[in-house]
Amino acid sequence: MANEPKTLDDLFLDTLKDIYYAEKQILKALPKMAKAAKSPELKQAFEKHRDETETHVDRLSDVFEIIGKAPRGKTCDAILGIIEEGKSIIEEFEGSPALDAGLLASAQAVEHYEISRYGTLKAWGQQLGLANAVKLLDQTLTEELKTDQALSTLGESKVNKQAQAKAA
Ligand SMILES: [Fe+2]
Ligand SMILES: [Fe+2]
Repeated sequence: MANEPKTLDDLFLDTLKDIYYAEKQILKALPKMAKAAKSPELKQAFEKHRDETETHVDRLSDVFEIIGKAPRGKTCDAILGIIEEGKSIIEEFEGSPALDAGLLASAQAVEHYEISRYGTLKAWGQQLGLANAVKLLDQTLTEELKTDQALSTLGESKVNKQAQAKAA
């Protein structure tokens, strides 16, 4: 018999594997970003989000369970690229007053990727009638949005100014 045509369930599972892989990569990257950051507030923001990210991985495991699948990641080239760009910033701006502004921007690129993925999964979960999964996905989405907002505030109130003033 020919393969069944793929449907929204397949897309949901594929994207779940993508973000599961991505969250695990982010979990490894955040301590390095916290270590590289000069501003205590930025360091603290990265450390706090590292802890939240552990919860994100756990919630995703629960979503896999809800749909009766074993938690498994699938290589996500997008997140690898975003994290790689962050590493370049750390290398290229080492010792520069602009380092933190670059790190903050890299972190926001990560958040925006996550926000995109969780937004999609939430919509598809709703369509598929996976109310319990949607609840978990929404909890994480809320934390990603809050993190993004906190980073914007920190950039605008402090980090961007420091990057500019000391470089002059
Ligand atoms: Fe996350
Ligand atoms: Fe995040």
